[in-house]
Amino acid sequence: MATNRTFTMLKPDSVEKGNVGAILEKISASGFRIVAMKMTQMTKTDAEEFYAVHNERPFFGELVQYMTRGPIVAAILEKDNAVEDFRTLIGATNPADAAEGTIRKLYAESMGENAVHGSDSDENAEIEGAFHFSGREMF
Ligand code: RTP
Ligand code: MG
Repeated sequence: MATNRTFTMLKPDSVEKGNVGAILEKISASGFRIVAMKMTQMTKTDAEEFYAVHNERPFFGELVQYMTRGPIVAAILEKDNAVEDFRTLIGATNPADAAEGTIRKLYAESMGENAVHGSDSDENAEIEGAFHFSGREMF
């Protein structure tokens, strides 16, 4: 995957609250092109693998429970400087610290239920996109 792509998940709370349309509208209006997208539900094994970097953290069990409790919308997004610009668009991990107008400020509940995922590096964007999508699902 080229370095102008990032990977996102609209997390179960966003689907439950009916915020998928509004969040996708904001993503599109911010200049990201949707390369791949689907609604899916992660298994416990999927979530443990996806967030393996956090498996020693005290919140790991809660994170896996949250991410598997219902469907998510997974997507690959393209834009110049995609990883950094998308992290700016979503805002800080804790919505209480997120800037005005960011997706987490608008739609996230708490640190634990924070509406969206965004890759934190080009390398992880590639790994995470490939975790959810095959080459022929990317456009
Ligand atoms: P993400 O990977 O989901 O985009 O979030 P992030 O980079 O902003 O934050 P990260 O440190 O990677 O944490 C991953 C997710 O774990 C949950 N979390 N809960 N209760 C807590 O203290 C806590 N800390 C992190 C959040 O869902 C966070 O997005
Ligand atoms: Mg992260």
